[in-house]
Amino acid sequence: MKNTAATLMAQKQSGEKITMLTAYDYTTARIEDECGVNSILVGDSLGMVMLGYENTLPVTMEDMIHHTAAVSRGAENAFVVADMPFMSYQTGVRDAVINAGRLVKEGGANAVKLEGGAEVCEQIRAIVDASIPVVAHLGLTPQSVNAFGGYKVQGKTLDKAQKLINDALKIQDAGACAVVLECVPAKLADIITKKLTIPTIGIGAGAGCDGQVLVYQDMLGLNTGHTAKFVKIFAEAGALMREGFKAYIEETQAGTFPAAEHTYKIDDDVIEKLK
Ligand code: KIV
Repeated sequence: MKNTAATLMAQKQSGEKITMLTAYDYTTARIEDECGVNSILVGDSLGMVMLGYENTLPVTMEDMIHHTAAVSRGAENAFVVADMPFMSYQTGVRDAVINAGRLVKEGGANAVKLEGGAEVCEQIRAIVDASIPVVAHLGLTPQSVNAFGGYKVQGKTLDKAQKLINDALKIQDAGACAVVLECVPAKLADIITKKLTIPTIGIGAGAGCDGQVLVYQDMLGLNTGHTAKFVKIFAEAGALMREGFKAYIEETQAGTFPAAEHTYKIDDDVIEKLK
């Protein structure tokens, strides 16, 4: 069954946790979809994990459309959410609607995600009015890394925690169908989750959220650098890949690959005539 904004909402109401993972290509999306993940996020984290940038800021609309289209082809049942990249919606409501529309028309996304609270409510309202579901993103919003001065837990003081609660209520009023809470203290995320009628999807926001999201390279142990506290490595796919790549190099160098079973036959009389 195809997951939708409505089915995610029904999961919040019934208490069934929502599962979301990132994917950026057809093969990964297909595997995640077959495993039954509710939603796939084509995150602008692709700037780092797929393109090798230092942060998400250089990611373009063309990058997002290219990767979203591949994911959409692999996601039969998962609700595909595409990130709106830096400066594709901050510049105004018209840009926001046009760019959200491109992610749906050209990328096949089922919804778009954008970062921010009160300051992006007009954009959320306009995109929703254009019949495109919007997932909001509060807390550590990576597109604001320069304003934050680094990747830090958000909402720890009374006024910042209150602002996060207010922002969550405002984006809900503006029509967001869900909100990602990133790097928010678990007890604050609990309060937000209880105050909202729309689902909260946490990343570094504790188990009280209505669902969880992780970057798949993080949870499969594919990254080599710093691992955030909130990441759990569910399988060591990086180690498995290294093992496979090394075995291929060794066998190729030794001449044991390809073996007879990996080669195609031709009749000997054809070969004879070629000599
Ligand atoms: O870009 C991304 O992958 C995200 C997640 C970290 C929520 O926004």
